[in-house]
Formats: sequence, structure tokens, C-alpha cells
Amino acid sequence: MKVAIITGGSNGIGKATALELGRRGVGVLLTYHSNERGARDVVRSIELVGAAAVALKLDLARPATFDEFARSTALELERVWKRSTFDYLVNNAGVGGGMVFSEMTEEYFDRMLTTNFKGPFFLTQRLVRLMEDGGSIVNVSSNASRGSFVGYSAYGASKAALTSWTRYLAKELAARRIRVNAVSPGPVRTNLGDGAFDKHPEYIKPLADQTALGRIGEPEDLAKVITNLLSDTFGWVTAQDIEVSGGFLL
Ligand SMILES: NC(=O)c1ccc[n+]([C@@H]2O[C@H](COP(=O)([O-])OP(=O)(O)OC[C@H]3O[C@@H](n4cnc5c(N)ncnc54)[C@H](OP(=O)(O)O)[C@@H]3O)[C@@H](O)[C@H]2O)c1
Repeated sequence: MKVAIITGGSNGIGKATALELGRRGVGVLLTYHSNERGARDVVRSIELVGAAAVALKLDLARPATFDEFARSTALELERVWKRSTFDYLVNNAGVGGGMVFSEMTEEYFDRMLTTNFKGPFFLTQRLVRLMEDGGSIVNVSSNASRGSFVGYSAYGASKAALTSWTRYLAKELAARRIRVNAVSPGPVRTNLGDGAFDKHPEYIKPLADQTALGRIGEPEDLAKVITNLLSDTFGWVTAQDIEVSGGFLL
């Protein structure tokens, strides 16, 4: 059985990806930050379709905890799958939201850059030691990295860094036949930005109107692409950033 690690598997895109991988018979180690109950529900749903899953707590904003997280991961791989390695990594977890440049605080900037870039960077450094040669990594970036909305400069820059790093990592890990790609979603109906779409449903139609295919994305739209990108179907694809947006701002 293949085993995947997904950060931020308690909600949104990460949850949909964990469920899709479980349906395909892949074992899933997912992480949560605050939503432990959501993570446990995802674990149960995966077990119901016959795959194994576990949930671990992770705070990407605290890289000093990553060695301990890697130790816990190794213990869970051994306990649940009788393995010392895993096959797939999805760096999905992240934080969103806006703050205009003129009012930007260092605290907000650091939260964005650490959670969305420094965290995945150093977490991957620790975890890739446990990854099987020939494995696959997908980083969840954003089409905000290309710069289009006032107030999203720190978020967009954190995702641009993630996308750029994807190419460097693909080059370094190619010697181990590990593929590294990114996906860049357009707007997706999740809790990102402290539940912005729930609090402001009026945001949805204008975004759908700017999307060629006429709606905003659903988490499952991303999950299908991420799971295929991880699999051998895309075995000759590395160092790519694939926009998954239904043609947002086309
Ligand atoms: N939704 C969109 O429109 C959109 C567009 C482009 C890119 N993206 C990207 O897609 C990815 C997934 O976001 P989503 O839209 O699915 O949002 P979401 O529903 O808010 O999920 C975010 C996930 O990240 C976890 N997380 C938050 N802070 C964390 C931290 N400090 N350490 C570890 N994990 C943390 C959350 O865990 P808990 O819930 O357990 O706290 C949750 O599982 C993000 O990287 C986001 O930037 C989203």
C-alpha cells in the first residue's frame, strides 16, 4: 500500500485530497492545526472505505517542532503500515487573507511567510529523509502568486516563493527520482481566510463571473488533480506549476 502525508487534511482542499487518496487505496497520514475533530472525522471516513489513516497535530509556524514531528511520523509509519518510509507528500496547509501594503504589520507578514513558505520548506527537509526514492511531492500554491488583488501582496509573495522553490526542489531531488510539482488554485469554496466565503457569500458571484467555466472551485476539483499528479499517470512530469482554476481571470 502506498502512503501519503498531507498537511492540513482536516479541512478544505487537504480533506478532499485525503478522502480521494483513501478511495484509491492509499494510506493517509494527515495533519491538523486547530480542527482535531475534523481530522478525526476524515480518518474515520478513510477507514470506512478500507484504507488506513492517522492524524497528527502540526503547526507549520513553529519549525522548531519539526524534528519531533518527523519522529512521530516515523513511529506512526511503523505502527500503522509496518514501514519506515512513505511515498507521497502534499504540502497543502496554509493561511490566507488580505492586508493592504500600507498597513502591513511585520507580525502578519511573518505569519504568512512562515506558515506558507518557511514551514513547508523545512518540514519537507525533515520528511524527505523518510520518503521512498521515486516518490512524489505536490505543493499547493495559488494563482495569487501572479499578483492580481489589492491586499494580497504578502500572501501572494509567500505562494510565489513556494512555486519558485518547487522547481529548485525538483532539480535537487531528481537524483532520487522524486518528482516535485505545484498546483495553483483559483478561488475555491473552503474555510480559507477565516471562513471568508461563509461570512461573505456575496464574494462568490463576482469571482464566478471572472471564471471562464462559470463557477468558483470546489475542494474536489483540486483533489482530483493533486491525486493524479502524485500518481504514476504523471510519472514524466516534474518541476511544473499547474493552474487549477477553471480559467480564472482568463
Ligand atoms: N481556498 C482558496 O480559494 C485557495 C486558493 C488558492 C490556494 N489555496 C491554498 O490551498 C491550501 C489549502 O487551503 P484551503 O483553501 O483548503 O483552506 P482551509 O479550509 O482553511 O484549510 C487550511 C488547512 O491548513 C491548516 N492550517 C492552518 N494553519 C496551520 C498551521 N499554522 N500549521 C499547520 N496547518 C495549518 C488547517 O488546519 P486546522 O483547520 O486544523 O486548523 C487546515 O487543515 C492553502 O495552502 C491555501 O493557501 C486556497
